[in-house]
Amino acid sequence: MTVVSQAPTMHAAPTVLVGVTGGIAIYKAVELVRGLVKDGFQPLVVTTEAAQRFVMPLTFAAVAQAPVLDDQSAWQASGGWFRHIEAARQASVMVVAPATANTLAKMAAGMADNLLTAIYLAFRGPVIVAPTMNWAMNEHAATRENVHVLAERGVEVLPTEEGELACGEEGSGRMASPEAIRLAVRRAFAASAAGPLAGKKVVVTSGGTRERIDAVRFIGNRSSGKMGRAVADETYLRGAHVTLVTTQPADGTPYDIVRVESASEMAAAVTEAVRDADVLVMAAAVADFRPRDEEGGKIERGDRETLTLELVRTVDVLASTARPGLFRVGFAAEAGPRLDRARAKKAAKGVDLLVFNDILAEGVGIGSDENEITILGPDGEIHVPRTTKPACARAIVDQIEKGVGG
Ligand code: CTP
Repeated sequence: MTVVSQAPTMHAAPTVLVGVTGGIAIYKAVELVRGLVKDGFQPLVVTTEAAQRFVMPLTFAAVAQAPVLDDQSAWQASGGWFRHIEAARQASVMVVAPATANTLAKMAAGMADNLLTAIYLAFRGPVIVAPTMNWAMNEHAATRENVHVLAERGVEVLPTEEGELACGEEGSGRMASPEAIRLAVRRAFAASAAGPLAGKKVVVTSGGTRERIDAVRFIGNRSSGKMGRAVADETYLRGAHVTLVTTQPADGTPYDIVRVESASEMAAAVTEAVRDADVLVMAAAVADFRPRDEEGGKIERGDRETLTLELVRTVDVLASTARPGLFRVGFAAEAGPRLDRARAKKAAKGVDLLVFNDILAEGVGIGSDENEITILGPDGEIHVPRTTKPACARAIVDQIEKGVGG
């Protein structure tokens, strides 16, 4: 059996251009710039005039630990020289956050009437935009078309989030979270984003399902969804188109999220999502049984001494999704060092890869931040000693890449 120990990858301090425009979500851009420094990047912040009405350049300079470029200072500092070309050459990745409807329109039209849009035109690396605006502006045909044009040209347009908007209305138009943008920036830098998973469609499930007993009660389990989330993040970093089907809140992701509650909802969502997928990773703890009948109201205690629920089997999502061309990964959380059971499960479910962990082992597994796993896959059995869940995810995704690529 091979034993691997994974160390996180270190970056030098490559420059990330951060274009900041005048949207109220600008306060999140401050957090983003701070986060990029933490991730080992040197942010080069470029603000528009409208952005400066919201936040002073000094704020960005302080968090970026570097001067901020704007329409005035750029020309002064360079003696009127071509600062936009210099800035474009200096950076490896460009991100515009927040990206207002106005700046998106200018980018789509190829206008260059301020430093930010001039830099965008002169820049040749990967570009990420995080739009933000009122829901009606977001849904306007002009905005939709501009976003489409940018995406067609290879710009990564991060999805806006649903929720309460700064204008007080509800809808889609909230900027992607700083965490989601940071992940997108890391992916733009990752050499592995051009590996075997690049452009592949990957569906990952996470969290424990809840099977309703009545209007307030359910049968659930302690799965936190962290392992599945780590696998989804890692496959995204390697260039995949990711859909995470989850029972957990999943803010801060630059990829698609489908929220579900029960095993049957998960089965329906997975069946739909895997139709054109290349890989399915079933990290979710799916209930094996659900109450036969769901009570409409609330079961009353009354003078009962006991309560009997009749449970029926749920559909086995993993087993039911087998088809040629879909690389399937299962998890087996066993009570004890039962590798024999994991081997049998791999064969029974006909999966390409099975990740075994012992839920009784100290400090790992369900709910915790760490795990200790054995991966049963194309390279035989690989043991990953106790480490963080993101490190386990890297080892698992290495094996998925071997299976998919070879
Ligand atoms: N799984 C599934 N649908 C279910 C139950 C489990 O897709 N209804 C998936 C899990 O997501 C996991 C794998 O099957 O990837 C193994 O789950 P596990 O609970 O360990 O195995 P079971 O098939 O339920 O077998 P047993 O409870 O007998 O160990």
